Parts: sequence; structure tokens; C-alpha cells
Amino acid sequence: MASLTKTLPASWYCSSPLYQLERRAVFMKAWYLLGPVTRFQNVGEEVDYEIAQIRLTVRRNSKEARDIKVYASDQSTEMRSHLTETGLLFATISAHAPSFDEFFPDLKPLLATVDFTRLPYRRSIKYEGNFNWKTMVDGYQECLHCQYTHPSFSVYYPPTFYTVYNHKNFSQHVADPNKRDDGLFLYFFPNCTLNVYGGGMSSFRVCPTEKPGVTRMEFDYYHMESGDKFEEYFKFVRQVAIEDFELCEKAQENLEKGIYTEGILNPVKETGVVFYQQRVLDLVCSQHEKEKCLNSSHMASGNKYVARPRLVEPAAS
Ligand SMILES: [Fe+2]
Repeated sequence: MASLTKTLPASWYCSSPLYQLERRAVFMKAWYLLGPVTRFQNVGEEVDYEIAQIRLTVRRNSKEARDIKVYASDQSTEMRSHLTETGLLFATISAHAPSFDEFFPDLKPLLATVDFTRLPYRRSIKYEGNFNWKTMVDGYQECLHCQYTHPSFSVYYPPTFYTVYNHKNFSQHVADPNKRDDGLFLYFFPNCTLNVYGGGMSSFRVCPTEKPGVTRMEFDYYHMESGDKFEEYFKFVRQVAIEDFELCEKAQENLEKGIYTEGILNPVKETGVVFYQQRVLDLVCSQHEKEKCLNSSHMASGNKYVARPRLVEPAAS
């Protein structure tokens, strides 16, 4: 029998030094979905973000979408950003990230099939939860839990056809192959999502704090309607989010108490979890090796050196 992939160990969900290593290995080397252009509708308005303790501000400097710029929190440095043809804004938080095309080489054809600017921005909410950022991503990347955790969601999107397609640094979830523009869920490694379902669209970021067991959830909601119809959609999608939140807090308790340490991932239904956990594992291990070599070569030369990434990246010219 072929060997089955195991989950990351529980210690990876509870350790501060491990999070600091993830921060350097994963978060400083990634691109982040900040939102569709409709999130930045008003000229001069600023929208603030904080990802892995790096603060960003997005400002639309004119009516032209190309004048939506991303700045470091001091407002003097422009960060690298990328606006896709179908209107999604991505940005980096560090010089250590590769180019957008290198990070997402096969994202363009998929994004070309959906108009992400169709739905106006309606509302944002954020709050903290007692779980590691990976506890939430684990749940997002599979739908085995959907039938018992999300009874109302499962009526509209039965998990029968639910399929996850993994690409380089993103996953596409399809709830029903016959309704490709509804029940579309995109996961962007490491912590951003875009969800088109229930007649609206939401985007959420799973933002790690410095405490490995505390994560800030940030949600942005988009819908054609602004009145009761939006509230109806909002209630439906909030219910799903609350159910996931409660599940994550319970799962984290078990991880921290040592009740759950490591398990086997379902090779058919949990390929999304296998895919993203493997990315985390590979990046963290190679970062650890790199830093170990750097430290030992500096120790040998009598210099105690701890590798630190540059935190602010000037925009590409
Ligand atoms: Fe869920």
C-alpha cells in the first residue's frame, strides 16, 4: 500500500518559534489577495491591512484602476502590487517574495473566466479567534466536515460533487461542476480566500498574530443588492463562518492539550490539505536549513548572526 500523508504535528500549531520561522519562510515570500477593485471604489479613501505583523495601506489615487496603489504603513514606500485583468488586487509584504507570475504561474486562465468586479463592496468585519492560522486553513481546504458542520450550506452545495483542484500556490474548489460561477471557492496560499456563493461574494484573510493560538479573521462582503437581499445573504454566509469558527476553537483546544497530535489525511477528500501543508513543511524546512548554515558559517567566523528578512519592499520600477 502506498504511504499515506500525515498531518503536520500538533506542536506546529502551538509554538511561537515555529510561527516566527513560518513568518520568514512562508509569509515573507507570498502574494496576498487584498480584494477586487470594487473594494477600493472611492478616490483618496484608504484601506488598511496587517499581514504577519506587516502593515499596508491601499489608496486609490484617481478614477483609473491602475492608480490603486499599495503602500507600507509609513506611506512613503510603495509596495509591489499586481492588478489582474479581471480586477483582483494582490500585493507582497517583503522583498523576499518572487514575482507575481512566478508565484501564480497558472492563475491567469482561471481568473479570466469570472468577472470579479460585478458585485459592489458592502461590508467588512474582523475579529480574533483562539486558534492557529493553519487550523482555519485545514478546515477551508476540505469539505468532509461540511455535511455535519454546515447543515444549511450543505442543502445548497451538497458535498457529493465537491472537488478541489490544486495548482501552484492556489486551490480551486468546485461545489457543483454544472454551476461553475456559483459555489466557486479559491484558496490563495498561504491565507487568503475568495468565495462566490449564495448570490454574493466574500473574501477572507486568516491573519496570524504573534501568539500561535490566536488568529484574526478579516472578511469583506460583496453583493449586487444593498437592502434586505444583502442582509439575507449576509446571514447565510455568516452562519457558515460561525460554524467554522467554533469548530476551529474546539480543534485548537485538542491540539494544545495533546489530545490530537498527528493523523493521516484522506488521499481523495483531503488533497487540498495535503497540498498546502506540504508547501508549509517544505518552505519551513528549507528556511531552517538555510538559517542553520548561515548561523554556523557566521559562528565559525566569530560572528553570531541571526538571519532577518527585509520587511519593506520598494515597488518594482
Ligand atoms: Fe467549513
